[in-house]
Parts: sequence; C-alpha cells; structure tokens
Amino acid sequence: MKILIAYDSYFKNTRIIADAIAESLERSGAQVIRERIYQIDFANLMNIDLLVIGAPTHNQNMPLPIKSVLKRLPKSTLNGIKTLSFDTRYKMNVKKSGSASIRINKLLKKIGGQVIMPPTSFFVQDRRGPLFPGEIERAQQLGASLIQFL
Ligand SMILES: Cc1cc2nc3c(=O)[nH]c(=O)nc-3n(C[C@H](O)[C@H](O)[C@H](O)COP(=O)(O)O)c2cc1C
Repeated sequence: MKILIAYDSYFKNTRIIADAIAESLERSGAQVIRERIYQIDFANLMNIDLLVIGAPTHNQNMPLPIKSVLKRLPKSTLNGIKTLSFDTRYKMNVKKSGSASIRINKLLKKIGGQVIMPPTSFFVQDRRGPLFPGEIERAQQLGASLIQFL
C-alpha cells in the first residue's frame, strides 16, 4: 500500500495536516511518501495506490502555482489512481471562504482520478494559523479512515 501525499504550504498549517494524515497512515502499516507538489513527477506515479493532495485556500481557490501544475497534466494522468483532496481555510461558510480542495477535486477527476471521499477542509484561526484545536486529531482520524480504501 503506497500513498503519495502532495501538498503546498506557505505558513506550515497545511503541512502539519499532511504530516498528521501521513503519520496516522504509517501507524496502520501503509507506506507514505510526502512531497511538495512541485517535486512530484506526475508522469511516473506507478505503484501509487492513493494520491492525496493538500493545499491552503487562496482567493477562494487553490494557490495559482498548484493550479498551473494540475492544469497542465494530460487527461489520463491519474487513470486507476484513487485520490483525495484536502485544504486549510478560514472557518466560515464555504461560499464565502471558497475551498482549494473542492477545486482540486474537480481537476483530479478531469485527469482520471478516482475520488474516494469528498474534499475535506481543516480550519485556521488566522492567515498564518494556528489551526483550531482538534484539527490535528481530525486529520489523524482521516488518515486512519483511509486504510479501508487501500
Ligand atoms: C494570499 C492569500 C489569500 C487567501 N485567501 C483565502 C480565501 O479566499 N479563503 C480562505 O478561507 N482563506 C484564505 N487565506 C487564508 C489561508 O487559507 C491560510 O493562510 C492557510 O490556510 C494557511 O495554510 P498554510 O500555513 O499551509 O499556508 C488566504 C491566505 C493568503 C496568504
């Protein structure tokens, strides 16, 4: 069981969530690779069972550099690969805050990703964080729950 967690993070909050998901999966015996999204070779995702992408929400969307990476990928890039996206954002109605993970999820589907769970948001108290209490535990629970899909 090989999981790739690809993320971006400006103030470390998204990275903290990525780490919590990864550590929880590792405790369940999965092999997890964590990489900045810009380091990923999307043409070479062989042996990856699950691709998790995490990003902060910027301007009601994913950060522009992530968008340009994902938009450039050919249609069948993720054929046969399970996917899940998460974001960090402000704790408010999603219509106001927007959500990077909802946007990422749409792009992943377009390039063949097999979405296993709805996109998930984790909440920051301010632009630079910190995360609200309980968010790390929620990320750990998410990680543990992913085992059933592998
Ligand atoms: C340029 C910029 C734009 C942002 N726009 C939004 C936004 O539209 N909606 C939102 O919920 N949060 C917004 N935020 C707050 C980010 O979601 C927050 O900085 C992020 O969750 C922190 O994650 P990180 O530490 O991994 O970068 C914005 C932050 C920055 C820096």
